[in-house]
Amino acid sequence: MTEYEQRLISLLVGTHLGWRYEARALPRLPRSNISIIASSGEDVKRSTLKFAWWEITGRCQLACDHCYASSGPNGSQGTMTDADWRRVITQTRESGAEMGQFIGGEPTLHPSLSDLVAHALDTGMEVEIYTNLVHVTPAMWETFQLPGVRLATSYYSDHPEEHRLITKRPSLRATTRNSARLRELGIPLRVGVVEVLERQRSRQAVDILKQLGISEVGYDNLREVGRGVRENGPDVEQLCGRCGQGQIAVSPTGEVWPCAFSRWMPLGNVRQDSLMDIAR
Ligand SMILES: C[S@@+](CC[C@H](N)C(=O)[O-])C[C@H]1O[C@@H](n2cnc3c(N)ncnc32)[C@H](O)[C@@H]1O
Ligand code: SF4
Repeated sequence: MTEYEQRLISLLVGTHLGWRYEARALPRLPRSNISIIASSGEDVKRSTLKFAWWEITGRCQLACDHCYASSGPNGSQGTMTDADWRRVITQTRESGAEMGQFIGGEPTLHPSLSDLVAHALDTGMEVEIYTNLVHVTPAMWETFQLPGVRLATSYYSDHPEEHRLITKRPSLRATTRNSARLRELGIPLRVGVVEVLERQRSRQAVDILKQLGISEVGYDNLREVGRGVRENGPDVEQLCGRCGQGQIAVSPTGEVWPCAFSRWMPLGNVRQDSLMDIAR
C-alpha cells in the first residue's frame, strides 16, 4: 500500500457513514457495542474540523428504498447557491479539514460539481465524490481524473434483479461498468455495501468487486433514518458513536449536522453563520 493510500485510509476509517473497512470479512456492526457519545447537537460543537460532507443535492436518478437522505428524481437541489458552496468549502479548509466529500442525493447531477471540485482542490483539500456511478458524462470523467480526487460508490448485490429491488432502477450494469473503468484509469475507488434486505447477496457482491480488483470495500447495516426507517426511527442508536470527532455535514439548504445521518440534530445554517461559528 502506498503512503498516499495509507494516509487516505487513516482519514477514511470510521469517518464515512460509519463504514468499517476490511477486505477479508464482513461482520455486522454490533449495535450493542456502540458507545453513544453525543446525544444532542451541543455535544458535537467542540472539536476541530477534519472532514466535511457537502450534500450538494437531494436529487437522484435512483430511489433506493433505504435512502437516509430520502433522495430521488423529485428531490431538490436546495437553496444553496454556487457562491454559498464555494464559501462553505473555503471555510471547511480554514477550519482545518484536509478532506471533503461531495455527496447527495447524487452529486454528479449538480450542474456545478466540476467547478466546486476544482475549488475544493484549489484550497488544498483532497476530495471524494460519492456517486452511484449510474451515468458519468465525459466532463465528469475528466473531473474524476484530477489529482487529489477519489471516488466512492455503492453496491448491493451480484444479482441485477436484487440490485434493482434496492435501487428501484436497473442500475447494476452501469455501476459495475463504471467501477471497472475507474479501476482501469487508476482512480482510487472505495465501495460501500449496505445490507438492507434479509439474505441479501452482499458477499457475492464483494466477490464481484474483488474480481474487478477493488479491495477497498466497506460494509454497513441499515440506519433507520429517512426512507431507512423500519421499526425504530431516527435516534442516536442509529449513529456510529463518534459524533463530534471532527466531522460535519452541510445540507442542500445550508443546514449543518454532526454527520450525514444525524439529520435531526441541527447545529446551525451556513447561510446565516460561518461554519467556524457553527462548529465552535
Ligand atoms: C446517500 S448515498 C449518496 C451517494 C450516492 N447517491 C450513492 O448512493 O452512492 C451514500 C451512501 O449511503 C448509503 N445509505 C443510504 N441510506 C442508508 C441507510 N438508511 N443506512 C445505511 N446506509 C445508507 C447508500 O447505500 C450509499 O452507499
Ligand atoms: S442511496 Fe444514493 S443512489 Fe440511492 S436514492 Fe439515495 S442518493 Fe440515490
